[in-house]
Amino acid sequence: MKKLLIVGMATAVLMGSTLAAAATDAEKAIEYRQGVFNTIKWNFGPMAGMVKGKIDFDAAEFARRADAVAALATMPGEGFIEGSGVGDTGAKPAIWENKEKFDEGMDALAKNAAALAVAAKSGDMDIIKPAFGQLGKTCKGCHDDFREKD
Ligand code: HEC
Repeated sequence: MKKLLIVGMATAVLMGSTLAAAATDAEKAIEYRQGVFNTIKWNFGPMAGMVKGKIDFDAAEFARRADAVAALATMPGEGFIEGSGVGDTGAKPAIWENKEKFDEGMDALAKNAAALAVAAKSGDMDIIKPAFGQLGKTCKGCHDDFREKD
């Protein structure tokens, strides 16, 4: 019984590594873009908390996170390769049916994230707030059109 279990485990490990090695380009692209979005979210969350007054405003931390999001915002677009609309993804087929509009959304993401990073340097919440609102709208606008609801 014990021996069977060990053989079974070894087989599972072997199968796992074979599967990992066989990850398709589409699977890698999905993992890549989701990773970028989750890294954006990691930084976006505390900024949202500060804008809403739920977390004490720390101008230096806000500026650091805004810089991170500005850099990250240029990155997810390249992960939407042809054929990566199936599998473990929330990406809608509409992306590839209307790629021009989707790419415009990605450009808006980069532009508005860069604008927030500039606004954040002021350390002034009155300047930061509208820039943050604009960026938040960009996320939501694209998700409404191109991302499956959870
Ligand atoms: C131009 C379109 C677009 C913009 C702009 C956009 N997203 Fe997304 N986002 C997507 C799509 C499409 C997915 C689904 C990706 C997938 O599952 O393959 C997604 C997925 C996500 C996910 C889930 C990742 C996962 O693990 O499933 C998070 C979190 C996220 N976006 C956060 C944001 C935030 C925060 C912003 C704004 C700062 C933003 N997104 C802006 C299109 C966009």
